[in-house]
Amino acid sequence: MSKRSFASDNNAGVHPEVIEAIRNTNDGHVIAYGNDPITARAMELFQKHFGSDIAVYFVFGGTGANVLGLKAITQSHHAIFCADTAHVHVDECGAPEKFTGCKLITIATPDGKLRVEQIKPLLHGIGVEHHVQPRVISISQVTEMGTVYTREELKTLADFAHDNGMLLHVDGARLANAAVALNATFKEITADVGVDVLSFGGTKNGMMYGEAVVFFDKSLAGDFKYIRKQGMQLPSKMRFISAQFEALLSGDLWRRGATHANQMAQVLGSELAQVPKIKLTQPVESNGVFATLPKEYIPTLQEKYFFYVWDDAISEVRLMASFDTSEEDIRDFIDFVKQIVQ
Ligand SMILES: Cc1ncc(COP(=O)(O)O)c(C=O)c1O
Repeated sequence: MSKRSFASDNNAGVHPEVIEAIRNTNDGHVIAYGNDPITARAMELFQKHFGSDIAVYFVFGGTGANVLGLKAITQSHHAIFCADTAHVHVDECGAPEKFTGCKLITIATPDGKLRVEQIKPLLHGIGVEHHVQPRVISISQVTEMGTVYTREELKTLADFAHDNGMLLHVDGARLANAAVALNATFKEITADVGVDVLSFGGTKNGMMYGEAVVFFDKSLAGDFKYIRKQGMQLPSKMRFISAQFEALLSGDLWRRGATHANQMAQVLGSELAQVPKIKLTQPVESNGVFATLPKEYIPTLQEKYFFYVWDDAISEVRLMASFDTSEEDIRDFIDFVKQIVQ
């Protein structure tokens, strides 16, 4: 068996219960493109978790969910505010700009979180044809720095967005980790605080692939079914994405996986913090650990354990735990770190 690493929760395999769900769905023929009973059941589960008055669309991946969700609520003369660390800005190869035509206005943050005071001064030129028009605040929950917006912070951003004619979009690739961290339901940290559009992640939480775009105001979804097809994100054998969501959301699998990943990150973070030359750069609030260490040790550590340098300038690395990270993985890694980082 290949060794587990700390590079990404995307590097983990698929949860056995999800594999089982796919296997159980692989029986006979059903209508393609989502007109099947498994998809109907999965949609009901989304309504149970997020509220009944929503529109949900399954897609293949997280970039697709973000790009198409944003496309649905913007026109090309609009501006989207996001953190300068945002996946939509850094890791989507310009797809949001290409498909929406919008200008992404990025904001530097110490911890991946946007704050109203940072956006306020950027709201100018409203109604002036020479300027892009503010339309969306896009945040990630969990953020790319592993931090988690509180319910109050989410509500403050949503209220501010709405008071200023904007919408709040959430990249929830790790929303399960955030819900666990906040001891909240999905609804409490989305619909109830005023989120308008959500990319809901399944992949990092144990699915093989599959994410969902959730609209909390159905009218915002508008022509989304055409946008999804044009955007090449309409899965024909939808039942296999639906079955995976059903596995995650029908019981507590989503919570078990995310709780475990968050706990493992806590252990990893507290062990690393005891190594004198290592400093945590962010509080460990979810399943990510961010830390600086002297540059010269990194290549040796990477020979045995795969992980990414997050910010080369300050020699900061990112270590991610997943649903399948074990305490033994952490113990082995920490023993090695202590041996090397002297
Ligand atoms: C914050 C965030 N958003 C979205 C994604 C989804 O990306 P992908 O298109 O690779 O599924 C990722 C994956 O790494 C992510 O970290």
